[in-house]
Amino acid sequence: MTVTDNPSTPVPLLLLGRGADPTSERGVECPGDLPAASDPDLVERARAARAALGERVFVLGHHYQRDEVIQFADVTGDSFKLARDAAARPTAPYIVFCGVHFMAESADILTGDHQQVVLPDLAAGCSMADMARLLQVEDAWARLAAAGVADVTVPITYMNSSADIKAFCGRGGGAVCTSSNARQALDWAFSPEGAGGQKVLFLPDQHLGRNTAVLQLGMSLDDCVVIDPHKPDFGVTDQELRSATMLLWKGHCSVHGRFSADSVADVRARIPGVNVLVHPECKHEVVTAADYVGSTEYIIKTVAAAPAGSAWAVGTELNLVKRLAAEHPDKTIVFLDRTVCFCATMNRIDLPHLVWALESLVEGRVVNRIVVDDDTAHWARVALDRMLALPGGGAVKN
Ligand code: 13P
Ligand code: SF4
Repeated sequence: MTVTDNPSTPVPLLLLGRGADPTSERGVECPGDLPAASDPDLVERARAARAALGERVFVLGHHYQRDEVIQFADVTGDSFKLARDAAARPTAPYIVFCGVHFMAESADILTGDHQQVVLPDLAAGCSMADMARLLQVEDAWARLAAAGVADVTVPITYMNSSADIKAFCGRGGGAVCTSSNARQALDWAFSPEGAGGQKVLFLPDQHLGRNTAVLQLGMSLDDCVVIDPHKPDFGVTDQELRSATMLLWKGHCSVHGRFSADSVADVRARIPGVNVLVHPECKHEVVTAADYVGSTEYIIKTVAAAPAGSAWAVGTELNLVKRLAAEHPDKTIVFLDRTVCFCATMNRIDLPHLVWALESLVEGRVVNRIVVDDDTAHWARVALDRMLALPGGGAVKN
């Protein structure tokens, strides 16, 4: 069976490759010429296309993007900053999003109707976002209703989710959060002045939900249960649903999920005095073993503020760790694990795809446009606006 054979199963992870084979890649057909990666003029072509477009294009770049791409971004940031910045250039008809699909969807939701959002390679998805499908989440909600807890549960979704999951949360009185403000989102969900819930269904990253609840809200691991869409009854009893406070969707990041407590012990043995700094998408055993925990933006600020001569083992995506090491030659900065690991889908946005997207815009062709339908966009925006109204975020552990 090819991944596209079953129309009732939305395509999850996208296979790597280049070209226009519809049975092996979703939507990576590039009408016109995708420049060869070996083209020595790519940087010049990107510069020329940017210059020709001038203020008509606004390029956003997530911190996990390759250097070759990030050099052309007008703004860089983590997903929270980029969500805020997306609407910062209302006069630009084109927003080129160098990131992954859910980020481009959020940009489409948060920008004006006259603005068109382009994702240079449609195969830049996110395996974590693909772990929570709307039908699965609706079924899980029915499971909560059957156990008598849906009425007291607030759905909160991590930014790393599809627009229809965000809309589900908006409709259900919940909100979006990012790794910068998950604590504030949970405080809001439980507070009588906020959503007034007794429980939270946290989608789709079980680790961010657990780490925030335990490290920042003082809950215990016993307050958390895992909702597994692949198990009968979602892998939980009615009693477990009634006694738990955090109902964690069984999703994870395939990049941050690779780090282990052994990675931390190993680096401490190799580099005496090293500071271990990790993203809250890492497993609980990793964040409890680490010294500092926070979002991508927090990681960057922490390393920048560190004294010369200090040593840092960073547990996040490799493009960012390599960039931090290059930007701070006065500090020792290493990747937390011995095995290198890029985010394969973030890496789909390469210079050939960026050049292709920009040159197409110069020619008046909007390629790879990301459009969220009006109803989904409305409710997803409700959930995003609740997030944007939260007080500022910070570190998970410092
Ligand atoms: P932040 O950008 O919120 O730090 O999240 C990291 C991530 O994995 C983005 O896909
Ligand atoms: Fe998704 Fe993880 Fe890649 Fe972020 S780093 S886009 S969460 S797979």
